[in-house]
Amino acid sequence: MTKIVSFASVKGGVGKTTSCVNLAYTLSKKSKVVIFDFDIQMSATYSLGSVFEGEYKCALPDLLNGDCSFKEALHEYKKNLYVIPARDDLFGFLTEDFSDNLNKAIRSAKKEKFDFVLFDLPTNVGALNLIPLNSSDLCIIPVYSPGGLSILGLRSQIKVLEMIENDVPYLVLVTFYDNRKTVCREMVNEVLPELNGQVFKTKIRENSKLSQCASLGKSVFEFSGKSNGAKDYESLSREVRKATKEGA
Ligand SMILES: Nc1ncnc2c1ncn2[C@@H]1O[C@H](COP(=O)(O)OP(=O)(O)OP(=O)(O)O)[C@@H](O)[C@H]1O
Ligand SMILES: [Mg+2]
Repeated sequence: MTKIVSFASVKGGVGKTTSCVNLAYTLSKKSKVVIFDFDIQMSATYSLGSVFEGEYKCALPDLLNGDCSFKEALHEYKKNLYVIPARDDLFGFLTEDFSDNLNKAIRSAKKEKFDFVLFDLPTNVGALNLIPLNSSDLCIIPVYSPGGLSILGLRSQIKVLEMIENDVPYLVLVTFYDNRKTVCREMVNEVLPELNGQVFKTKIRENSKLSQCASLGKSVFEFSGKSNGAKDYESLSREVRKATKEGA
């Protein structure tokens, strides 16, 4: 059954796009995956660069307007991994109710037997964040572990989830983890236990390969398959399969 997973955080630069793209890549080894890039910055689209460089007629704004079909908007990165690219006119959707067309696209993804639909969401809290969240089976909230105030962003994101109509479960993902930093250890040992287990066991370590591969338009698996970044996202994929009961 198709599982819809959002990456959301009211705080920027915490690893939403990096997690979405690299998790998508590793999940696609065994499952059919599509990323919807909801961010005007187009980071997920750029991170899978060969999609961006290709000629595309249809992008996410066209799909949300009802001007193209789900199949027309799909751009293949590799076997079993597709992207619906962002474009700068997504800006016009910040206050639009596009839920009917999004739901139609989700129904098509189910018909086309996608196992995972991943939503890379922007940092702002507007329609581009709230509508996709409301359609999700799981929300992954990355938390920048070296930031002492990151917990405030996490609490705000949990409040956003409480505001939307559907009851969407969430799991927190520790990112930029460095065991040598007291602030990272304090976050994991003292702050996150308050969340009653709604935290992935996998921690994404700080790893320069993760930022290098994004600027080359590749996943970390293609750029440096033995790096800590690749190992951590591989481990996360096993937990995501378990949490969504999809191909575990
Ligand atoms: N674990 C990591 N180690 C080192 N660098 C990382 C790691 N995760 C992400 N980065 C880098 O940090 C920056 C921010 O990451 P990313 O774009 O994934 O965050 P984001 O939450 O999607 O940001 P935005 O709010 O702008 O959408 C990027 O340059 C990315 O390559
Ligand atoms: Mg992003």
